[in-house]
Amino acid sequence: MSNKISLTRYLVEQQRVHGRIPPELRLLIEVVARACKRIAINVNKGALGEVLGTADTENVQGEVQKKLDVIANEVLIEANEWGGHLAAMASEEMEGIYVVPNRFPQGEYLLMFDPLDGSSNIDVNVSIGTIFSVLKKSSTEAGVSEQDFMQPGHQQAAAGYCVYGPQTTLVLTVGDGVAMFTLDREQGSWVLTQDQIRIPEDTKEFAINMSNMRHWDAPVKRYIDECLQGKEGPRGKDFNMRWIASMVADVHRILSRGGVFMYPWDKREPEKPGKLRLMYEANPMAWLVEQAGGAATDGRQRILDIQPTKLHQRVSVMLGSKNEVDRVTRYHSEL
Ligand code: AHG
Ligand code: MN
Ligand code: MN
Ligand code: MN
Repeated sequence: MSNKISLTRYLVEQQRVHGRIPPELRLLIEVVARACKRIAINVNKGALGEVLGTADTENVQGEVQKKLDVIANEVLIEANEWGGHLAAMASEEMEGIYVVPNRFPQGEYLLMFDPLDGSSNIDVNVSIGTIFSVLKKSSTEAGVSEQDFMQPGHQQAAAGYCVYGPQTTLVLTVGDGVAMFTLDREQGSWVLTQDQIRIPEDTKEFAINMSNMRHWDAPVKRYIDECLQGKEGPRGKDFNMRWIASMVADVHRILSRGGVFMYPWDKREPEKPGKLRLMYEANPMAWLVEQAGGAATDGRQRILDIQPTKLHQRVSVMLGSKNEVDRVTRYHSEL
């Protein structure tokens, strides 16, 4: 007899005991998790499969797509389109929304994903991931449009990510804290390995791409300058730095041991509010971080309160240990 709790049991209990999720949402999350397993199998094949390198196409963001960006996007669509719980999907790798074809029943949920996060790390065998977010269609009328996706992040019904690293780990919230599941490859099942994750409020570790320093805005520069001054500076302690360049892996570290992650607006492309995407990167991560006791802002306001106006909207992101995020957010209002 094993007393291990599977993802299936966790979700059944969220439905039955806590009354948090309806059965449709439970099944939808199971399908996303199954798709992540399939993506993990492809990721693990590496050079032995046809999965490395570029696909010679560009996505709507103007990024050259990697083969795995395209494969992961297809896996997620194929896995999710027939289940009957979704009305439409949206992805970093698709210009418009993907409406569930009418040969399948239409549900009332909307799924958004960054199918493959950390694309620049695929070919160098560094952790990458999948990020997802679920919203409920606001109108009960038949049909679905891009407008149905324009909901602030605090209305998410579920959010999570899967990190393909030394272990394959699924991290999930349905609004009852954050739970982590590790993929047991022999059994082919997700096993709960940590529940009610808490991010320490203080930290001595920050994550930011320092090569952009000369482009930053004054408040971000001030915050990092003070960290760099270490024990002798105003913070009175030495800071360490990490930057993996896969948001999934950086956020996973922060959920595991604390820290602050920033991809701020910068002067390189002043008309863009930031690099990361609100709907399928910032919102799901912001909700996970808040559910673990951390904070997430764009420097001025809570990410989860931003009213989206565009599917591929970008945003400045600061998230992680609460006191650090509060501090850098305060610097934005002081300067
Ligand atoms: P994606 O691979 O989905 O396009 O996202 C990459 C993002 C994010 O994962 C990471 O934090 C950031 O881009 C890294 O950007 P830099 O290469 O500018 O450091
Ligand atoms: Mn990309
Ligand atoms: Mn990404
Ligand atoms: Mn991506």
